[in-house]
Amino acid sequence: MSRKILLEVKNLKQYFPLRRKSVVKAVDDVSFHIYEGETFGLVGESGSGKSTTGRTIIRLYDPTGGEVIFDDKVISDKKLPKDDKIYVNKHMQMIFQDPMACLNPRMTVMDIIAEGLDIHGLCKSKEERTQRVYELLRTVGLNEQHANRYPHEFSGGQRQRIGIARALAVEPKFIIADEPISALDVSIQAQVVNLLRKLQKENGLTYLFIAHDLSMVKYISDRIGVMHKGKLVELASSDDLYENPLHPYTKSLLSAIPLPDPDYEKTRERIKYDPSIHDYSTESPEWVEIRPGHFIYGSKSELANYEKELSAKESNA
Ligand SMILES: Nc1ncnc2c1ncn2[C@@H]1O[C@H](COP(=O)(O)OP(=O)(O)OP(=O)(O)O)[C@@H](O)[C@H]1O
Ligand SMILES: [Mg+2]
Repeated sequence: MSRKILLEVKNLKQYFPLRRKSVVKAVDDVSFHIYEGETFGLVGESGSGKSTTGRTIIRLYDPTGGEVIFDDKVISDKKLPKDDKIYVNKHMQMIFQDPMACLNPRMTVMDIIAEGLDIHGLCKSKEERTQRVYELLRTVGLNEQHANRYPHEFSGGQRQRIGIARALAVEPKFIIADEPISALDVSIQAQVVNLLRKLQKENGLTYLFIAHDLSMVKYISDRIGVMHKGKLVELASSDDLYENPLHPYTKSLLSAIPLPDPDYEKTRERIKYDPSIHDYSTESPEWVEIRPGHFIYGSKSELANYEKELSAKESNA
């Protein structure tokens, strides 16, 4: 059975001009797709271009180059027809690391959550609107009493739930979660992740889940893309990436995950990534599917080494 691709990102580039004619290549020729109903994790260190990728997908920026195709519509076009714009605004939602920054402090939770309902005219009466907000509050583990309060009256975890309820209100297909748990206490992180998983199952949602490190992403994603300095350097299913990491940057990210196993922890060594090991002065790197579904960025000679590494593992298996 072939799976439906909900989002396709093709050779996406997002360059920001700096002073003196230089540019930051925040996203530089990035290609990947996301299947309907899956969670696609995007990981990489600070400044690698994860948020810019998300923001460009959701049309906060016009891309410098490349295309974004959502539900078979090319949505990256500057002159996107109005109907398609409305479609994207409804079906793509974003949740953020710091919900406080995106929840209007002067609006009640009721009005915050209902904003999308109002914009898209989804409720016929005030009563229907109220009931829908109550229902959304319950869905995210809050209750009716919370509707008339203001964002500052909530804890970080509760605010993230409000942000999730707001995103869910318009019944989107696709949610970009930009580090939605990084600012939360560790004890709260799992709760919010479990809520996102529950909502995904119930509503058939598709997620782009952005994070710094692999610890939580490995656990919630079906497939993962690893970003470094504006480039995707590796992409594979979570299991494959975990078992057969090829790119030294992926290996370094994996070595940073602590495990609840004291014996392992004693021997765990952090692998440091040194980008200067890549010599791309004579051989330019390519983005290649080295095994079905496993993509890697490298020069001809690097790819030959990755191939050797994989073959050796496979013959030992
Ligand atoms: N609006 C902008 N104007 C100019 N430069 C920008 C802009 N947004 C991002 N950048 C630059 O683009 C690069 C990628 O930034 P981005 O925020 O996408 O990284 P990130 O991977 O999300 O990092 P973090 O993990 O810190 O959130 C950085 O060098 C950043 O300074
Ligand atoms: Mg970011």
